[in-house]
Amino acid sequence: MEELDLREVFKKEIVCLTKEHRQLLYKVLDSVPSKVWERPASTRYHSEKDKAEYGMLNHTKSVVRICNILSDTYNLNTEENSILITAAILHDICKYGKEVESPKILTIHPYLAGELIRKLYTGKLEENIEQVTVAVEDHMGRWSTKRPRGTPLGTLLHTADMVASNPNVTVEWK
Ligand SMILES: [Fe+2]
Ligand SMILES: [Fe+2]
Repeated sequence: MEELDLREVFKKEIVCLTKEHRQLLYKVLDSVPSKVWERPASTRYHSEKDKAEYGMLNHTKSVVRICNILSDTYNLNTEENSILITAAILHDICKYGKEVESPKILTIHPYLAGELIRKLYTGKLEENIEQVTVAVEDHMGRWSTKRPRGTPLGTLLHTADMVASNPNVTVEWK
């Protein structure tokens, strides 16, 4: 497969985002190697598809798909939907590298992603960007190393991530 064009890969998701969230997404996608999406999402957990090549991409697309369903179910408004979907695309962006299966990366990858987002902006984050960052940081729920803040959107993302990671669940996202 040629180098992934992530703006194309997430084209359907991107059209639903607000301008600010689209800008955030592009900033982050441009700052991480596209190889991140090619590696397995996990070698121990997740479905067979997630454990294969491009598993990260499959897992992320699955989480986004479930978030879309939850967004409809709970009738999220445009801004809330945009926060949830942006956070879903970015939630595992820092789950890569040599130590990816180490307990360290497994537990701190949400905070590494949060740090990455905060570094891309100067000063205090605007509320709409902060909410994406908090949802990403809290996506491990009770498995977080810090106490999750329990925001509704962070909880929805955590739920979608848990369902998508269950080996008995297959999500069609095309
Ligand atoms: Fe994660
Ligand atoms: Fe995940």
